[in-house]
This record gives sequence, C-alpha cells and structure tokens, in this order.
Amino acid sequence: MNYEYHNPVLLKESVDALVTNPDGTYVDVTFGGGGHSKYILSKLTAKGRLISFDRDQDVLDRLPNDPRFTFIQHNFQFIKQFLTYGEFVPVDGILGDLGISSHQIDVDNRGFAHRFDGPLDMRMDANAKLSAQTVINDYSEEQILHIFNTYGEIKNAFKLTKTILSHRKGNRITTIEGFKNTISECTPKDTPAKYLSQVFQAIRIEVNGELKALEQLLIDSESLIKENGTFVILSYHSLEDRLVKNYFQSGNLVGKKHTDMYGWSTQPFVGKPNKAIVPTEEEVNNNKRARSAKMRIGIRNKWN
Ligand SMILES: C[S@@+](CC[C@H](N)C(=O)[O-])C[C@H]1O[C@@H](n2cnc3c(N)ncnc32)[C@H](O)[C@@H]1O
Repeated sequence: MNYEYHNPVLLKESVDALVTNPDGTYVDVTFGGGGHSKYILSKLTAKGRLISFDRDQDVLDRLPNDPRFTFIQHNFQFIKQFLTYGEFVPVDGILGDLGISSHQIDVDNRGFAHRFDGPLDMRMDANAKLSAQTVINDYSEEQILHIFNTYGEIKNAFKLTKTILSHRKGNRITTIEGFKNTISECTPKDTPAKYLSQVFQAIRIEVNGELKALEQLLIDSESLIKENGTFVILSYHSLEDRLVKNYFQSGNLVGKKHTDMYGWSTQPFVGKPNKAIVPTEEEVNNNKRARSAKMRIGIRNKWN
C-alpha cells in the first residue's frame, strides 16, 4: 500500500489486538489515509463489517470499494447516534488513531503547519464554522490564555496572549506568516520550531474540539462495544493519553475508582496490558511522526 498520505503508526500491534472476531463488526473512528482501515478489512471474512469515520473531505478519494465497508464523513464525537441509527450496535471493537494525518500537515493550504505560509485555518472539516482565524482574532483574552496554558503548556502563555491582543487591534490576523510575525517577539530564537509546534497544537485542539470529541467517544464506548470487545486508542500528546488512561483504569475521565456494594470495580474496560505501548526504535527511525505515540488497549468487562 502507498503510505504517502499517512504512514500508519503501530499498525500491526493495534489491528492485531483489535480484531479478535473475523466475522465481527469493527469501527475505525479516524480513517485518515486508510492504513489501519485497510488492514482491518484484510483480517475480516466476507461476513465482517467495518465502519470508518473522518471529518476531512480530503480522505474521500482514498475510500476502499468494498461491500463490507461503510464510511461516515462526520465527527466521531457523534459516534453513538450514527452507529445506533445504522443498527451497527453492539460492535466488536473500536480503533481511534487521534490527531491529524501527515497529509494535513504536509499541504500548505490547511493552516496546520507553521513551515508554510497559508490561511490561518486548521479545520479538519473545511465546512466547520470555527477556524484558527476566529480563535486568534475574536476570542477573549481569558479564552486565549486558557488555550495556551492548558492545551499547549506554553511557558510564556501570558506574554504571548498579551502580544496577540495588542497586535490584533484594528488589524485582523489572517495568515500563518502574519501570525508568526505577530508573535515573533515571544518565539525563542534557539528553538523556534518546537515553540511554534506547541502554539499551533494548542490552537488546533481548540479549533477542532479534539478533547471534547475524545471525552464523548470514551464515555459512549461503554454502550457500543460488546462483552470482551476491544477498544484501542493511539494518542500523541499527554492530555489525550491521560484521559484514555484514566478511563481504562477507573471508568471515568478523572481517574477516580468506584466499587459497587460488594466491593467490585464498576469500570467498563480493563487495560490489557495496563500500561501504554509505544513504537519500537525501528518504527520511530522509519517514521518520525510515530515518536510521541502511546497506544492503550481496553477490553470490555463482562460485568458492567
Ligand atoms: C492520525 S490520522 C489517522 C491515520 C489513519 N489511522 C491511517 O492509517 O492513515 C487522524 C485522522 O482522524 C481525523 N479525525 C481526527 N479527529 C476526528 C474527529 N473528531 N472526527 C472525525 N475524524 C477525526 C483527522 O481528520 C485525520 O484524518
């Protein structure tokens, strides 16, 4: 398969763990270049089914022509509604490979990459209302500060926010170059790329509501995946991984364990293994974008 669009991370490890029933129904909530989806299909019999989601129109000409495959061009935040409406529930497993694809960051017209000039956009779904331009030009000081502090853990978030606020007065910031010039006095001279990546990541998370979508997916997975079914999530930054870890360890997003009146745990998934799996050195050497990946696998409990 040609991986120019996106080189799938932990491909074998994730899909081999996911597909335990070749006649089963599986969901890939992040189709991207289709690497994981196509490998899932290769493991299914004629009876098996795969439903894949992606919000990005650019994936449309990569969809497999396969009677076992259904594509839903939508935010996976609404997975429960779509799977219920399509009568796909309960499913045997769900895979999520979070964040953006290499394609999205390798093209110059989407606004995800700071190495190109282009529109200050960053929308995964080109029809979505909220873009990076709105966040930078129309959000309040408190909102912008919160985004840089929480989603980017930016050390000089306060100075950065004040700088944006003072430059944007009577002057709309609409391009990547314009934005980079605006914040140049805050960008460290020795490590500009690292800093800009953190700033761009923070804005992108807000624009696409990435944490909200993940939270809803985690909460809904309990009612969607059948007993002994598998939930596999690959995340690329600590905020996402913390949510997944908490959910697998406790059944809620804050990681607080609960037990029933007999002292049994009420968590819907058991982490298996109980820690994150990371790519091998060989994979990271072949695919630099794999370096921050953490994969967690949850098995749906029998009891809850
Ligand atoms: C890391 S890539 C997936 C790559 C894919 N596993 C492959 O092998 O090519 C993530 C993809 O998920 C999509 N995506 C991210 N968040 C989404 C959401 N909330 N709803 C739908 N699609 C989403 C992005 O548009 C992107 O195409």
